[in-house]
Amino acid sequence: MGSVHKATFVLLMFCLAVLGRAEYLKYKDPKQSIGVRIKDLLGRMTLAEKIGQMTQIERENATTGVLSKYFIGSVLSGGGSVPSSKASVAAWQSMVNEMQKDAMSTRLGIPIIYGIDAVHGHNNVYKATVFPHNVGLGVFQGP
Ligand SMILES: *[C@@H]1O[C@H](CO)[C@@H](O)[C@H](O)[C@H]1NC(C)=O
Repeated sequence: MGSVHKATFVLLMFCLAVLGRAEYLKYKDPKQSIGVRIKDLLGRMTLAEKIGQMTQIERENATTGVLSKYFIGSVLSGGGSVPSSKASVAAWQSMVNEMQKDAMSTRLGIPIIYGIDAVHGHNNVYKATVFPHNVGLGVFQGP
């Protein structure tokens, strides 16, 4: 065996060893049915993780490490709760990405759901398109 082949062989064995250590997680397998994945995930969760996943906290309280510490399932921006004054799309994206990274760092790696109390489109994003309210009323034709 030449040295290039030996190096390739060693690298291949190393990769197989690393892959062999990764545990197969049924709930992360998209080929499984939703029911099977849910049952598998619930079977793995502790009571603390279940409580956390059923909890939604306000954006203001989702400070660094809180989501992973309490296994929080959802974060909400209540009306007017913005990452910063005149927050751009990039500011919103960066904030949510940081939260998602924290949530995904947990043992089970469950992503959060992010909710926003916004009207007329996402009116809390600075310079966002704001749509007219109740557009349906505008097309009403009386008798
Ligand atoms: C959530 O944030 C608000 C505003 O900063 C604060 O008054 C409240 O005490 C916080 N709640 C918790 C549980 O940290």
